[in-house]
Amino acid sequence: MRRLLLLQVLLLAAFVPPAAAQQLLDWSADEVRAVGRHGPWPPPPVRDPSNRVSGTPAGIALGEHLFNDPRLSGNGQMSCAICHQAGRDWSDGRAKGFGTVDLHRRTPSLWNVGYAHWFGWDGAGDSLWAQTIRPIEDPQEMGSSVARIAGLLRDDKDLACGYRRAFGGAAGNDDELLLVDAAKALAAFQETLVTPRTRFDAFRDALVAGDRAASARYPLSEQRGLKLFVGTGNCDTCHFGPRFTNGEFGDVGIAFFVRPGEVDSGRLGGLARLPGSPFNLLGRYNDDASGANTARTRHVQRLHTNFGEFRVPSLRQVGRSTAYMHDGSIATLEEVVRHYAEVNPDRLHSDGTPLVRPLGLSPQERTDLVAFLRSLDADPPRRAPPPPLCP
Ligand code: HEC
Ligand code: HEC
Repeated sequence: MRRLLLLQVLLLAAFVPPAAAQQLLDWSADEVRAVGRHGPWPPPPVRDPSNRVSGTPAGIALGEHLFNDPRLSGNGQMSCAICHQAGRDWSDGRAKGFGTVDLHRRTPSLWNVGYAHWFGWDGAGDSLWAQTIRPIEDPQEMGSSVARIAGLLRDDKDLACGYRRAFGGAAGNDDELLLVDAAKALAAFQETLVTPRTRFDAFRDALVAGDRAASARYPLSEQRGLKLFVGTGNCDTCHFGPRFTNGEFGDVGIAFFVRPGEVDSGRLGGLARLPGSPFNLLGRYNDDASGANTARTRHVQRLHTNFGEFRVPSLRQVGRSTAYMHDGSIATLEEVVRHYAEVNPDRLHSDGTPLVRPLGLSPQERTDLVAFLRSLDADPPRRAPPPPLCP
């Protein structure tokens, strides 16, 4: 009798297909909606109305050449691509940036940057092209000048030709306008840096479509981590939407001391610089005559709670990074999750109910959260070198 039972059990086991190892957790309607809000991916291509060469092939081509051209810098050796390297997810593989001197912030990846609405860790830029002017002029980064950029666009045969094709006329005598146009072409190029679909995207689409078989291909650990992310972890209040950022600012308890006695005030400092910039969207270089894109800049308010806030980073490709947070102070994703699990509430200086609180999290939950975050990574296709501007 016992033998027979054993045989039955063995037979049963033999008939369970290996795919049964894959399972689908129970997903409530609310959870499915929350997951669905992290798509679609890829989003529609960027068209920035403040930039008349946004989305144009000739603008993008000029921008890619400028991006790789060290002559843009004061010493002729520093291109954008030195710090934002294609092979390093458009960052530099370092914890903190390095220009003519050590910088105190990490070089952010440029993936999906065209979809943002504030730029830089402190949001001092309100358009991608305005943000692009900053490193060109910054003596600690490229240390260049308006005259140098304008001269290149006028006098270099290829760049002058690329300029004509992109902007429909020869580079003129207004140096500042030429600097802005160079930045707009650079922005048009950066807008094309969109990450591929990920394992998470396949799961999201299958879950929303009610395709259980396809959903169950997403490993259980990732599913559990995602549940935490949109559930008790509260992560998606800030890491919201298809890019996993609401594009705004937050304080998650990262130290803001640059060195003893010197602080990085983050968003507060960014807001101090924004109104004075001749390149903000309220200025004369905004190509959208309707002014429809100026509302954010006009209505921005400077509050004391902005002190020590930094822009919420996108989490796409996050597992491929070599350092985390605005100052590169956390080295691994595991440590980022530990930070959220054990964050010291006294370090957060938000008013009202803090959005971040120590989550505790069991070792299994920490592993799950990291597994989910890693499912937002995908290998980008190899890039071919750009064809000549004007063959
Ligand atoms: C010396 C290294 C270095 C060089 C050269 C450099 N960058 Fe950066 N880049 C940085 C750092 C560091 C930051 C973060 C700055 C901040 O937030 O204060 C940054 C930020 C940015 C951002 C903001 C990204 C975001 O997510 O908001 C953009 C866009 C950008 N750089 C584009 C460029 C372009 C275009 C060039 C060439 C014209 C360039 N960078 C040259 C180091 C560099
Ligand atoms: C209050 C808004 C907020 C909440 C809630 C929040 N984050 Fe963040 N997150 C941020 C901000 C802001 C940063 C950057 C902080 C800095 O650089 O000082 C960040 C950074 C990160 C980073 C590092 C990304 C990078 O490129 O440096 C990861 C990973 C991350 N968060 C994951 C999570 C997870 C997981 C949760 C939930 C447990 C979570 N976040 C909850 C706002 C938030």
